[in-house]
Amino acid sequence: MKSPHIPVLLDKVIQTFGDTDGWIVDATLGYGGHSEALLRLNPQIKIFGIDQDQEAIDFSTKRLAPFGERVRIQKGRYSQKILEALERLPVKGVLADIGVSSLQLDKKERGFGLQSENLDMRMDPQASLSAYEVVNYYDEERLAKIFKEYGEIPQAKKLAKAVVEHRPITSAKDLAAIAQKVLPKKGRIHPATTMFQAIRIEVNQELEELKKLLDALERYRPSGAKVAIITFHSLEDRIVKNRFKEWAKQCICPPEAMRCECGGDHALGEILTKKPMSATKEEIAQNPRARSAKMRVFSFKESA
Ligand SMILES: C[S@@+](CC[C@H](N)C(=O)[O-])C[C@H]1O[C@@H](n2cnc3c(N)ncnc32)[C@H](O)[C@@H]1O
Repeated sequence: MKSPHIPVLLDKVIQTFGDTDGWIVDATLGYGGHSEALLRLNPQIKIFGIDQDQEAIDFSTKRLAPFGERVRIQKGRYSQKILEALERLPVKGVLADIGVSSLQLDKKERGFGLQSENLDMRMDPQASLSAYEVVNYYDEERLAKIFKEYGEIPQAKKLAKAVVEHRPITSAKDLAAIAQKVLPKKGRIHPATTMFQAIRIEVNQELEELKKLLDALERYRPSGAKVAIITFHSLEDRIVKNRFKEWAKQCICPPEAMRCECGGDHALGEILTKKPMSATKEEIAQNPRARSAKMRVFSFKESA
């Protein structure tokens, strides 16, 4: 099946999970690109796929049908659905390719793109909060906080004020035009890009979802499992980097302790990527979305 989405860092995902014997949770199944490649490569691999977008679920259900019992697919948020997998299956791998799919970005009616006539940005179109509510009903202070924290926009307050003054705003296009007036131009990148990122993060609770996924993994510590997380901006990458560092710590004594008294054997496993993996020039030329992708991998130790 021709997919509307090219999977990023596919060679690195294969390198990480290619020899897995058992269940891999694909927490962001999307169009099934990563999962199909793994299923084709190694008949021992089984996939528990999760996505909150029905369109993605429908596509990957058809795409992965030839693999029969080796595939289970669940619709929902990965923060919830991963618990089912961790409770019921001997999970040997977890992959999360966080972010928006090319189809979500390209389909104008989904409201993710700067040129869209809609103001939506929900990955799950049945979710209650959309960009329309955030832009038109959040108070100025709350909007400024989102622009600052999730978009790292220095002129967050000025931008929030302009948004509030232009209400009601009914399309992404109009919203982008407001940002263009208020924010300075940054090379070839449209000034509204970081504002859209911030609103999208809020609408889909993206950072909370990522933290909850890491919390679930920390709680269940799936024996011998590798966890690979692909992120597309620094806020997410920082969360993954710091959590993996915590997990890899042998000593958990308080910083003021004169010497180690905890036994020094508290690491949950090891970080397999000293630096994050990123795309090659060739991959970026083929798929510009891969430019900002970073993948970090952690391996949980085998439990006795
Ligand atoms: C970048 S795409 C994944 C593409 C996929 N790896 C492939 O090869 O086709 C990200 C997908 O994750 C889904 N997604 C993002 N956050 C999610 C969450 N919290 N829960 C469930 N699905 C999520 C999106 O709906 C989207 O389909």
